[in-house]
Formats: sequence, structure tokens, C-alpha cells
Amino acid sequence: MGNCWGSRADTTTTTPSTTGNITSGVISSTTSSSNISNKSQFSASSGGEDGHPNGQILPSPNLREFSFQELKTATRNFKGDTLLGEGGFGRVYKGLLENKHSSKSGSGWVVAIKKLNSESVQGFEEWQSEVNFLGRLSHPNLVKLLGYCWEDQELLLVYEFMQKGSLENHLFGRGSAVQPLPWDLRLKIIIGAARGLAFLHSSDDRVIYRDIKTSNILLDGSYRPKISDFGLAKLGPSESQSHVTTRVMGTYGYAAPEYVATGHLYVKSDVYGFGVVLVELLTALKALDRNRPVDKQTLVDWIKPHLSDKRKLKTVMDSRLEGKYPLKAAVATAELALSCLAQEPKARPSMQEVVDSLLKIQGMAYDKPRVSRRNSSGTAAVRPHGHRRQNGPRSISSQFSTI
Ligand SMILES: Nc1ncnc2c1ncn2[C@@H]1O[C@H](COP(=O)(O)OP(=O)(O)OP(=O)(O)O)[C@@H](O)[C@H]1O
Ligand SMILES: [Mg+2]
Repeated sequence: MGNCWGSRADTTTTTPSTTGNITSGVISSTTSSSNISNKSQFSASSGGEDGHPNGQILPSPNLREFSFQELKTATRNFKGDTLLGEGGFGRVYKGLLENKHSSKSGSGWVVAIKKLNSESVQGFEEWQSEVNFLGRLSHPNLVKLLGYCWEDQELLLVYEFMQKGSLENHLFGRGSAVQPLPWDLRLKIIIGAARGLAFLHSSDDRVIYRDIKTSNILLDGSYRPKISDFGLAKLGPSESQSHVTTRVMGTYGYAAPEYVATGHLYVKSDVYGFGVVLVELLTALKALDRNRPVDKQTLVDWIKPHLSDKRKLKTVMDSRLEGKYPLKAAVATAELALSCLAQEPKARPSMQEVVDSLLKIQGMAYDKPRVSRRNSSGTAAVRPHGHRRQNGPRSISSQFSTI
């Protein structure tokens, strides 16, 4: 769960009491016809993979409307053991949608179902934004929204199920089920997330995502990262201009300084948040942790001076990497993070530039073997820095393919 804030004094948000319709990308409760086909089919794969590897924006949301009863059945009445997590919007459950065309019991589609909490601070507006943005956006690195339910007081969203959970859980989760992510996999995940943001920023209607953080980077069964949660997304202005918001929304520790101070929101405000994620990926330290000493609670304030110094960087790298990473690549990633965290939005790279830099970093080889000491026979005992021991723990990197 994130540490969200938002001051809503200037807006009135009403939760609808009627069943609504989505027309041409705008949700309306006054029309009686819906342009969403009930026949709308979906599969577990992202639309972005279906012949559109670079993503596409649909003219209107292509979503299926679910009945509340259908989603109740899918989650066995939102039973506790189907709970996947909880955020500011409400709870997220794992559901099984019945395949009506199959006689086999238990066959169907596994989905994630988000149920709006009636006391949610993030409310109808966020639900609406999610439907309007994510319903139209299709890219291999954006979570696919399959449909929605709007019945009486009930607002729900149905997504493709992301089997490996959130990046947050992999970096900060504890327990035997959580294996540390090896370096190569961390890079593949962050490249995918960067591509998702680059797609949003480069579209004709520039989309400012506004909530990049590790809990919103979800991983599918092959660890392919997909950005979720478009509740706070906004259509952005041109590159140099800012969008002034009267209510500052986001997550503590990730929000860009100009946005927190003035409410001015730039496409580059997302780049700042991405820089924070990069630092979390290197250090496995949370963007904000109230359990740390006061001067270390905000990760960026604490770690920034370490990012430009190779020796200092080594002291804050995630110990669970056990030094198995190319030092050159870690240094370059830290430098990239620093540029994303520039105080001036204009000084930050674009997300496409970030993708390009990360691809270069990905190509950086492990450091050359160093002769550490001579053994008694006079032959060198060599342990290449950053290489895995042959009989070491099996890395999960062998389980993923393309990201
Ligand atoms: N499509 C999905 N597939 C699998 N698990 C999911 C999916 N969507 C969300 N989850 C799980 O539910 C948790 C809660 O997600 P949610 O987006 O509601 O909150 P959050 O991102 O933690 O916080 P915030 O509301 O501040 O964004 C996630 O951390 C993740 O573990
Ligand atoms: Mg989320």
C-alpha cells in the first residue's frame, strides 16, 4: 500500500447511485445506451502484444461490463483468501471468471478485481479516470483493464491478473516466498516500466501518469512489468508548459519537488518519480520509511550524495544482490537516477532517453576477473567480481524470458 495524500477541498466528488454507461470515452449516467459491446471478448494477454508492440490508443474504451453478481461469484463473495492486497481505492481480490463455453468445472479466466471502498478517499473520480485512460490505452507494459462494474453503490474494476505481484513486494517483502531479484532481472523490469511511461508521454494526448512507484509496477508470470493504476493520470500540456492542479495528489517520497511546492505538474514530474524507483531498485530501501532515523526517512534526501560517488554507492547497494552486479552498470544507473532527480524539470531526461540509457546499461558486461591472491601452487585464485558461484542458489532470472 502506498502513502497517498490528497487535499480535496476544491472538488466535490459524488459516488453515483445509478448504473452508468461509457460513451466515447466519457462516463455518463444520463444516457441509456452504452457503446460497450457485451460481446467484448478478452484474453489474459495484453492488447499491446496483439500486433501492436509499440502500443496503441483506442478511440473509446474497449471494456466489458460485468454484473456485481458475476464478480461476487468469481471471488466467492469477496472471501478473505482471495484478497491480493489493499490500496487507497479499496481491496484487490483474485477472481475466477467462469468460462460459459466450457463444461469443465473450474475452467475460466483468472483476473484481479478491485472493489471501491465506500469510505475511499480516492473515489469515483479515480475509478472514472482508470476506465477512461486504461480502457483506451494498450501497450505491453501497461496492465490491461478488462472491464468494470457500476451497479447501485458498487464500483469495481477488473484487470488481467499479474501473477508475480508488485515490484514493491519483491524489493521490500520478507519471508521465504520472496526471492531477491537478481541484477539482470531488475534491469529488465525497470526497462519495461520505463517503456510504459515513455509510451504515455509520447502519445498525441500526452498522459502524465502521476503515480509511478514500486507498488504500481506489477509483474506477470514471466516477470514482464506492467504499470497499473491510472486513477491519478492527467492529460498533459506540451513539454515546457505545466498543468496547474489545485489539489496535489500522489505518494509521499515519489512526488517531484515542483509539484509538491506549487502544484505545477509536468510530464517531467513523472521522470522524477521514476528516478526515485531507480534508487529503490539499487538499494532496496523504501522511498519513505517513517521507521528510519529522521534524517534518513526520505530516501532521496538521504541517498542522493551517495549516487555520484562509486565508493559510497557500494555501501548502499542492496545487500541481497551479494555484490553480483556489474559495478559499471550500477554506477551508470545511479548517474541516470541522479539526472532524473534534477531539481529543474527541464534538466531531467525524457522517458525515451531514460529507456535508451537503460538499454546501454543492460549491455554493460560484468567486470573483468581480478586476480585476488595466489594460492600455494602459485596459480591465481580468481573470483570474477559480480559472478555467481557455480553451486550458489538458483536464481529466478532463469525463469523469465522477454520482458
Ligand atoms: N492486476 C493485478 N494482479 C495481481 N495483483 C494485483 C493487481 N492489481 C493490484 N494487485 C495487488 O493489490 C495490491 C494493492 O493494489 P492497489 O493498486 O489497490 O494499491 P497500491 O498500489 O498498493 O496503493 P495505492 O492505492 O496508493 O496506489 C498491489 O500491491 C498488488 O499486490
Ligand atoms: Mg496500485
